[in-house]
Formats: sequence, structure tokens, C-alpha cells
Amino acid sequence: MSIAEKFVSMEYGPAPEDSKEAVAWLGRHGHRLQHFIGGGWQAPAAGEYFDTVDPSNGEKLASVAQGSAADVDAAVKAARAASSGWRALTPHARARYLYAIARLVQKHSRLLAVLETMDNGKPIRESRDIDIPLVARHFYHHAGWAQLLEQEFPEYVACGVVGQIIPWNFPLLMLAWKIAPALATGNTVVLKPAEFTPLTALVFAEICQEAGLPAGVVNIVTGDGATGEALVKHPGVDKIAFTGSTEVGRAIRAATATSHKRLSLELGGKSPFIVFEDADLDSTVEGLVDGIWFNQGQVCCAGSRLLMQESIAEALIAKIQDRMSTLRIGAPLDKAIDIGAIIAKVQLDRIRKLVAQGVADGAICWQPQVTLPARGFYYPPTLLSNVHPTSIVAQQEIFGPVLAAMTFRTPAEAVELANNTVYGLAACVWSESITVALHVAAQLKAGVIWVNCTNLFDAACGFGGYRESGYGREGGREGLLEYMELAWFKDAPMLPAETTPALPESESEEDSTASGTDIPAIDRTVKLYIGGKQARPDSGYSMEVRAADGRLLGEAPLGNRKDIRNAVEAALKAASWARATAHNRAQVLYYCAENLSQRRDEVAHRLSAVVGEKQAVAEVDLSIERIFSYAAWADKFDGAVHNPPFRNVAIAMNEAIGTIGVICPREAPLLGFLSLVMPALAVGNTVIAVPSEAYPLITGDLYQLFDTSDLPDGALNIVTGYASQLLKTLAEHDDVDAIWCFGDEASAAAAKAMSIGNLKQVWTNEGRAINWFNPKLAEGRWFLEHATQVKNIWVPYGE
Ligand code: NAI
Repeated sequence: MSIAEKFVSMEYGPAPEDSKEAVAWLGRHGHRLQHFIGGGWQAPAAGEYFDTVDPSNGEKLASVAQGSAADVDAAVKAARAASSGWRALTPHARARYLYAIARLVQKHSRLLAVLETMDNGKPIRESRDIDIPLVARHFYHHAGWAQLLEQEFPEYVACGVVGQIIPWNFPLLMLAWKIAPALATGNTVVLKPAEFTPLTALVFAEICQEAGLPAGVVNIVTGDGATGEALVKHPGVDKIAFTGSTEVGRAIRAATATSHKRLSLELGGKSPFIVFEDADLDSTVEGLVDGIWFNQGQVCCAGSRLLMQESIAEALIAKIQDRMSTLRIGAPLDKAIDIGAIIAKVQLDRIRKLVAQGVADGAICWQPQVTLPARGFYYPPTLLSNVHPTSIVAQQEIFGPVLAAMTFRTPAEAVELANNTVYGLAACVWSESITVALHVAAQLKAGVIWVNCTNLFDAACGFGGYRESGYGREGGREGLLEYMELAWFKDAPMLPAETTPALPESESEEDSTASGTDIPAIDRTVKLYIGGKQARPDSGYSMEVRAADGRLLGEAPLGNRKDIRNAVEAALKAASWARATAHNRAQVLYYCAENLSQRRDEVAHRLSAVVGEKQAVAEVDLSIERIFSYAAWADKFDGAVHNPPFRNVAIAMNEAIGTIGVICPREAPLLGFLSLVMPALAVGNTVIAVPSEAYPLITGDLYQLFDTSDLPDGALNIVTGYASQLLKTLAEHDDVDAIWCFGDEASAAAAKAMSIGNLKQVWTNEGRAINWFNPKLAEGRWFLEHATQVKNIWVPYGE
């Protein structure tokens, strides 16, 4: 073809990236890769290897060691051996290592980009211009955190040995997101890459050697799900960080429930891409290309649900189809390719099956006329319109280049549709009206919101989900906290095991006056506190409450499942509390403190029968202070504004989690209750609290406190009873967003195990004793951080 002819047709010629360096690297290893343990290569104990293939042509790239439990054990031991030395280094020394790694990533960026594309199938344009630069940025940013660690987090220590399991969609980037914060905070690491994409992690192992990183600080064990499982279950691991499917996230949650391992999960998504009628449609379409066709749609935060305002739906669909027709699909090493290969046959089959199911559900499938390469795993860009919100393609993560389109009429309807999913990872909002965009952003249940932009990531900005998209953040300050523990908490003594009496034989639904015990005249009876009213327990049963000397003090209702359900319903109706201004919440809390101070003596007097006079007085006085403290915090626990290296700001909002079920500690009935409930309320959560089983009669004093303090009905609900039984209902309730459980070790494990269903966030004391009387330990940021989740809202800004 002549130049003139080419000029007319504007056809692209092939522009392949040179793979020589990557091929030479594989050759140097004899196309056979071992584990990286204790600073050197180690053959798999069982001698097993698996193949990793190039998805663009199905050809084998190399054999890779299949990690067994013995290999994992060796790696954990190496990480443990390196732990104290690594932790003992000065922050500056650790910063130097991270900085050296960042430099070496840049130096080897071409090898890394090409090998990533060969192993994963993603366009070289993306691995070269997005993945690898972000990897380097992550290490630079965290070299900075390593340097500042002692100044910024003086009370924290590293978790210890961290097990990290990553997926195949951004192999080296996910490694960086995990390893950089772990090392910066003084942890040592065992990382398991995904079985489809282990290669760049092994180049990274060499980078660690080249940087002179002490042996055992980073260990890479390759293998499949069984290797991951061995790492999760290894008793020598202090924390697990996982990115991958929600299903595996759930399995990991179950496997770690009875241990003290910290856990962060970054799981799936079904993120909405919302377009209002005033959006700039041409920019929107370009955003959409990055939103759903980036990395073949194999992105956890892909904008896979297109929600269009009805008035522009037709015009937008036409523009999208035009643009889809220009997307180039083919060999990913070609620099002019937009869409590369799908990771594996199994994933390709999964996409095909889900699309077929969507069409069976009534969706209309549109694909541009493209010729797919004859070999390898490819799927064309696909638009499904006429999708019903309940269809499988609107609900399930497809993890492919498939967009499911729906329409809405009003902003309220857009929000409802957007939140109609179990996930909550990300969302895009397109509108030229900043008012509309930010109004909608505030209502979306997602950890990242991109306004008039999409799929932007930066090391300074936390990334992570709400709801079944997981918990914990990667990046930013909040990401570091996932890899550290408060030093005092790590060393706190364990509480003695609790005993709970059995429930009465049968629970009567009708008899609401019967007492479970045959007792003489009683001093005091309290009721439950639900929806701002005193309520009789559904069971009609009550529990005896005795003084320290055995004297009967009174009876507290034995709440049951139905009471908890009523309390959750009341909490959901009190959503106005979250919307109240921080100033208003502070005012209500101050009012509570005022009320308590007025009743100081009588509350202390009653409490003294159980905890003794000295503790009772201290509890009441410190409670007044504690409430004051959270009234003070209510309008001061601000978020941040990040300055990522783009023309954007990311507004990091500390948002309330929603409805929190709180199992209060036994040992300080008043102060323990308020130390947990107050921070939760201060930032706008609604609460269902189960007071101390040792003295549930405290409810009588508490509801007087709240009843007279302008707290909206239902913002706080108190259900007395046996904590272990009420915990189960709270943990299993889908409308409870988080559980805080402060009891013995067994209750902590139960809280984690029972709430696997909807993966709610669980915070426990791990059975450790907390000195509620020491404000340095028992109040402040640690509590507020658990009461909130960070939502990052990216907004275009700058010249
Ligand atoms: P996966 O969740 O099975 O794999 C992720 C990682 O977990 C891999 O390293 C794997 O070896 C490991 N793993 C598997 N089972 C494990 C276990 N029981 N214990 C510990 N580690 C285990 O994801 P998969 O099968 O590769 O992809 C299936 C679907 O998951 C995709 O179609 C997509 O919908 C979703 N997915 C979501 C990702 C995300 O970033 N949110 C990433 C990868 C997959």
C-alpha cells in the first residue's frame, strides 16, 4: 500500500513491542521458575510445576513451581526470621530500600511491562503507561511513609508476618499495592501471585535481590488456590491481605475467624457508570472506554453497569456503538491495540455463559464487526441494552468487556439503581452540574467515586470497598493502618472466658409478663429501648441481675431475635442521624453528658452494687468526660483532600458505616458501653447495643439519658439479654453493616464466623482486656476509624 493510499484508509500497520528482553529473562531461568524464599530461589518441596501461558496465543511461557504447604511453611519461617531485623531498622533505612526498589522498577520497566503483557494478555499500552508507572509511584510514595512512620504513627507497631494473595488482572500492580505498605510499616511478607500470572512477581524478587533487601523480608511462593489456602491457614502468619473474588474472600474470612489474624479484603464489584442528561457525552464515551474496556473489563472497579438518564439514552447508545466500532482488538504486544486477550479459557467461557444468560433474560446484545485473532482467548467489546436491574448481567461481576445498560429518570432513581447491588467498590458520575454530581456522590454506597473521570488510581488515595466488595483500604494513610497494630493492644492481656447461662427451655411468644425465675420482691425492672421507646421483650422472659455480694438487684429483659429485628428496623428509620450536621450531633452528645452529670450520684450509687463504689464513681465521671470527648470529635474527625499526580483532587470523606451492632464489655457496664456507642454515634452511625451482661440494668439509666437529649428515635437501641445469642442475630442480619464485639476470645471468634454471609465488617478486642479507664487507650481516633469508612471522591481540578 502506498503512503497516499494509507493516508486515505488510515489503516494501522502492526507496531509490535520488542519482546526480546522478556524472552531472554525466561531463557535465563531455563523457562522454569522456582519459589523465592529467604532471599534465594528454592525448588518446590514436592517437585511439582505448572504451566503459565500467553493468553494471546495459548503458548506456554514457562513452568512455575507449585507451592505446597511445606513451601509455604519455609517461606513463613524465612519471613519470621527476618522480621525482628527488618523492624529494628531505622525508618530511614527502610525508606532507602523502598526507594531503591522504586528506582529499579523504573530501570526494568520495559522488561516488566512486556512480561506482564505476555503473561496476562493486557495491551502493552496499558502495562507500559499505567501498570508499571503506578507500581513505581507506589514504592516512591511508601518510601516516604517509611521515612515518616515514627513521626506520624508513634503508637503503632508492625503486624509481623503478612500473607498476601493477589489476582491476575493487575499482577505487578496488586503486588505493589500489597508489598509497599507492608514493608514501609516494618512487616515481612509472603506473597502468592495468581496462578495465571506469576512471572512479574518473580522479576520483582530479583529486584529485591538487586536492591540488597535483607533475605526473608519478601518471599514469593507461586501456586494455585491450594497454595493460597495453606498461606491463609498457616499459624505463623499475623495478617492476611487478599484481593480477588468475593467467593474466595468469604472462604478466607471463614478460615481466619478463629485466629487473631488481621484481615483486609478487596473483592468484586458491579460498579455503576451514571450519566446525567447534562453530561458532556463525548467525554463520557471516552470515560466509558476506560471504564469498561480497559484491561478487557477484567477490573474489579470496572464501570460495568451503564445507567443513563432516559432523555439521552438513545443518543448516548449511538455514540457508544460508534466508538466501539473503532476499538482495535488483537495481539496485546501491538502498541496500537485497545483490547487484548482474556486471561484464560475458563474466564472466556464464564463471560460467554453470563452474556448468554443475560440475553435469555431479555437483554439485547450488540457487538461491533470485528475479526478476532484465530489463536488465543479473545472476546469482543459488548453492549447489552434493555437489561433488567434484576438480570444476572446487572447483578453479577462478569469480569469481561461487557457493558450492561439501563435507564433512569430522576437522580433519586439513579441512586436507587446504583445502590441496588451487594457490592460497593466504585462508581462514576457524569454531569456538567457539580451540584448534581456531588449530591449523587454523597448517596452512593461505594468506596471510590469518580466524577467526570474514571479508573484513576494513586498511591496517596485509599482504594477499597463498601459492603460485599470487602473492607480495608489500599493506599494512603488508611492503607497503612491495615498493616499496623497499636503497640499496647498487641500486648494487652486476655480476658477470662465468659460463661453464659442457657436460654429458658422455650420462648413464649404470647406470654409477655411471665418471669423466667421465681423471685421475691425486686428492686428494679427495666425494659428494652427500641425506636426511642421502652419496649417489652418479645419472649416475656427476663434475667436476674445480682450485686457483687449475690443480692438480687432486679431483672432485665431477655431480648431475642425478634427484638433485635425490631431494633434494626428502628435504626434504619433513623437515617436522619447520619444526615444531621456534625455540629448538631455534637450538640446532642453534649446534652447527653449534661444529663448524665445531673444524675451522677444516683447512677453511681446503683452501679456501685455491682462494681463497687470506687469504680462506679470513676465510671460515671469518666463517662461524662468520654461523652464530651466524642461531642468534641463529632465535627473534627475530618477527612482529607489528596493531590494525586493528575488534574484532580480526591476528597477523602470519613463516612459513617451505617448500622452497627455493638456487644458491650462486661467489665465496665457504663463506661464500656459509652466508650463504644459514643464514637459510633458521633460520626453518624445508628446503633443496636447489647449492654454488659453483668449489669444490664444500666439500660434504665441510659435510656433516661438518651430520651431527654434530642437523640432521634432509633438512632440508638438497647437490647438486653445474653450477648452470645443476640450476637448471632445481629451478625446474620443483612441490614446490620458492622459488628463490634468486645468480650472474651470466643465471642470475638464467633462474631467473625457468624457474619460471613454478607461479609460485614467486624471489630473486636480479640478477647484482650482494654483499660476503659485510661483515655489514652480507650478513646479517640482508633475508635473513630472503626466507626467510619473512607470514600474517595475524585473531582477534576486544576489548570
Ligand atoms: P480467585 O479469587 O479464585 O483468585 C484470586 C487469588 O486467590 C489467586 O491468587 C488464587 O490462587 C487465590 N485463591 C483461590 N482460592 C483460594 C483459597 N481458597 N484460599 C486462598 N487463596 C485462594 O479469582 P479467579 O478464580 O481467578 O477469578 C474468578 C472471578 O473472580 C473472576 O471472574 C472475577 O469475577 C473475580 N475476580 C475479582 C478480582 C478483583 O480484583 N476483584 C480479581 C480476580 C478475580
